[in-house]
Amino acid sequence: MKFARICFLLHVLSTTGVLVNTFDPITTTVVVGIGATLGRTIYNYLHESCDAKWIAFNVTGLKVDLDRKLYGQHIASRIILKAVNGFMNNGNPKKPLVLSLHGWTGTGKNFISKLIAENIYKEGMESGFVHFFTSTLHFPHSSQLVNYKSQLQQWIKGNVTNCERSMFIFDEMDKMHPGLIDCIKPYLDYYDKLDGVSYRKAIFIFLSNAGADSIAKTTLDFWKAGENRDDIELKDLETALSLSVFNNIQSGFYRTSLIDKNLVDFFVPLLPLEYKHVVQCAMTEMVARGLEPNWPVAEELAKDLLYFPKSEKIFAVTGCKTIESRLDYYI
Ligand SMILES: Nc1ncnc2c1ncn2[C@@H]1O[C@H](COP(=O)(O)OP(=O)(O)OP(=O)(O)O)[C@@H](O)[C@H]1O
Ligand SMILES: *[C@@H]1O[C@H](CO)[C@@H](O)[C@H](O)[C@H]1NC(C)=O
Ligand SMILES: *[C@@H]1O[C@H](CO)[C@@H](O)[C@H](O)[C@H]1NC(C)=O
Ligand SMILES: [Mg+2]
Repeated sequence: MKFARICFLLHVLSTTGVLVNTFDPITTTVVVGIGATLGRTIYNYLHESCDAKWIAFNVTGLKVDLDRKLYGQHIASRIILKAVNGFMNNGNPKKPLVLSLHGWTGTGKNFISKLIAENIYKEGMESGFVHFFTSTLHFPHSSQLVNYKSQLQQWIKGNVTNCERSMFIFDEMDKMHPGLIDCIKPYLDYYDKLDGVSYRKAIFIFLSNAGADSIAKTTLDFWKAGENRDDIELKDLETALSLSVFNNIQSGFYRTSLIDKNLVDFFVPLLPLEYKHVVQCAMTEMVARGLEPNWPVAEELAKDLLYFPKSEKIFAVTGCKTIESRLDYYI
């Protein structure tokens, strides 16, 4: 009865444009209430909000993207899918997900974080819930450390308070001041709540070149032994990675106790890319520009790149990083 009346009123309002305040107070309240709910629904529909419409993990999407778009990274691909899927399906995680991606320049670290973001947030990297920090850009002066610390802590706290499913990406982690890394440590830990805020559904991704040399060396050893790149396993890289990264005084990341407290859930090594991967990247870039993919052009481009080590010339010095800008000269 009441419902029918409200519906009727709404209908009248919308068709005749009668003002709400011409009705008695109770009806007005109800109509305004419904209007507000309706308004909020429409608002949430159009504007990103922290709900399932805007944040929904697509495991198929992530798998397809990693399989089809990411070249030459079978280890990283596997770890990322398992880690993100496990975490997103866990209704009650004990701590936030913390991934640390390591590898040579242009091998796909930023690219992978983009793929993860795109398969969790409708808006991908543009999402208001995805926060990207580059140490040299956001925190360049060590004299400002005290300010940076409190700012960063406020940002993390404020953003997770807004939406517990927030993602924080820290690029150039190896150039970040150890003091700044120390100040985010509490958020990565096994706390139920910190000052009433739970960080356990957040995702932290660290990107760095730390360990790239040792990953390259192991990959080269496999190549020299005539073994298949795809047969390299995580355990083949772990020892080398831990020695070069965790004991390296140079790398700020690891002078902190992130490691011994086991706050990083997964160390993800990225292999240096070879000629054939660069060709694939060039082909992809042509398609992305709406051009007919042209294999000879892609090969020409790949041939002009620099490769290391000097004697074998197997791995692209800049990976796939310069393909996009270089392509202009080949088409
Ligand atoms: N493994 C890969 N598969 C497919 N495309 C790749 C791969 N690696 C890099 N690319 C392409 O090259 C571009 C640059 O790579 P990206 O920014 O991810 O490198 P990075 O590992 O972050 O390097 P850096 O250490 O210099 O920051 C990406 O946007 C992507 O288009
Ligand atoms: C998930 O990703 C797959 C593969 O990209 C796509 O076909 C599907 O529509 C996506 N699902 C949702 C709900 O977005
Ligand atoms: C969230 O993080 C961004 C930086 O990505 C910052 O500018 C913003 O102020 C933060 N929001 C809150 C509520 O702290
Ligand atoms: Mg990068």
